[in-house]
Amino acid sequence: MKVLLVGGGAREHAIAKVLKKGDVKMFACMNNRNPGIAKMCEDFYLVKETDVESVVDYARRKNIELCVIGPEAPLEKGIADELEKNDIKVVGPKKNAAEIETSKSFMRNLMKKYSIPGGVEYKVFDNVYDAKDFVESTGDVVVKPVGLTGGKGVKIVGEQLKDTNDALNYVKEIIENKIGGVPKVVVEEKIVGEEFTLQGFCDGKKVVPMPAVQDNKRAFENDEGPNTGGMGSYSQGDGLLPFLRKNEYDAAVGIMQKIIEAMKKEGREYKGILYGQFMLSKYGPKVIECNARFGDPEAMNVLPLLESDFVEICNRIVDGHLSNASFMKKATVCKYVVPKGYGIKSMADRELILDEKKIGKEGAELFYASVNEKKGKIYTTASRALGIVGIAESIKKAELIAESGLKHVLGEIYVRHDIGKKDYIAKKVKRMERIRR
Ligand code: AMP
Ligand code: GLY
Repeated sequence: MKVLLVGGGAREHAIAKVLKKGDVKMFACMNNRNPGIAKMCEDFYLVKETDVESVVDYARRKNIELCVIGPEAPLEKGIADELEKNDIKVVGPKKNAAEIETSKSFMRNLMKKYSIPGGVEYKVFDNVYDAKDFVESTGDVVVKPVGLTGGKGVKIVGEQLKDTNDALNYVKEIIENKIGGVPKVVVEEKIVGEEFTLQGFCDGKKVVPMPAVQDNKRAFENDEGPNTGGMGSYSQGDGLLPFLRKNEYDAAVGIMQKIIEAMKKEGREYKGILYGQFMLSKYGPKVIECNARFGDPEAMNVLPLLESDFVEICNRIVDGHLSNASFMKKATVCKYVVPKGYGIKSMADRELILDEKKIGKEGAELFYASVNEKKGKIYTTASRALGIVGIAESIKKAELIAESGLKHVLGEIYVRHDIGKKDYIAKKVKRMERIRR
């Protein structure tokens, strides 16, 4: 089967590795030349992933049968709709279904309309005067642009926002400057808890869940510093997390299943990967956001554990006949190598010296992210550079493997070494125990 992968990050490198386990000829469309993906492809095309016309044209020229979309931006532009019009199977929702991610108000309104559990108090505003009463009466609020902002638009009272006044100023700023592309804002109650990610394969009717993962978004150790795309993540052998119980995991799966059913009723059949970002609160899991794709880094935790044939899963997603997927019962720890200064001002374009063979010998898996390869040398960009993943029976062992792999990566880089370590995990478990009381 001829398969086209769209996207050139570490998430897509993880997708490429599971695609290649199947009987496929792989092609790729990516913004940057990801050396890991490039090596595995029959051919690749350096193109803006949001340039739907060019990507579809390439897919037609190469007689692609199945296309897997990594990032959200091409989905927002309707790439799934165009591929389908050209009789190319696609894993990734159509534009109107991708709104689950691309419009924060759509997601919240859908959950409310269908009384789906896990919702939060919220309101959508298009002017600051209407927002005043809600912001003042809700207490601590979270202010979010309705549209996509690459994970940088959300601000929270008590963190980036000092108080109610600050929150209202930010509401005004979003509306006036159309941050996220639309002059609309969602204001919602702030939920206290531990965050976790649940990803599921979806065939329009049903969700087949993957192991839960915790991503760590803060730039610096001890969860300090600005939010980033994610600095590293871990998962546990039983599919739960040290602070997440089975009934809570099941509740999150139930919420995602109800979302898929609601999407179908709305005439927005959802086929692809659904990413639920949850906050485990005193009252159970609450939905923070939904994404229309795998998480990055979370794809690097779950995909290496996948025992079922990914290509078959993709075909079943498209045909609407998903059955269960099986995952190895192992723990994973992923640590992202980023350029120094990442999250504030990255030191880009520095040479990265790494030894792929030695990383492999340590038992660690390497996933290339946003790097450039020039004359056989690897250079950083302003974004995350590579993910190193350890896989083992316990989080503790997986963390040690990831660290052993990291010894073979040198340069002007930064890594959050605390992710997945014993003290770090213990702190999260204790915090959750306090919240539950
Ligand atoms: P997002 O861009 O929606 O992923 O939001 C960025 C971060 O803001 C999330 O990872 C959460 O830590 C935080 N956040 C978003 N919404 C809420 C909420 N309602 N309550 C508490 N934290 C939130
Ligand atoms: N890890 C966060 C995301 O993929 O959105």
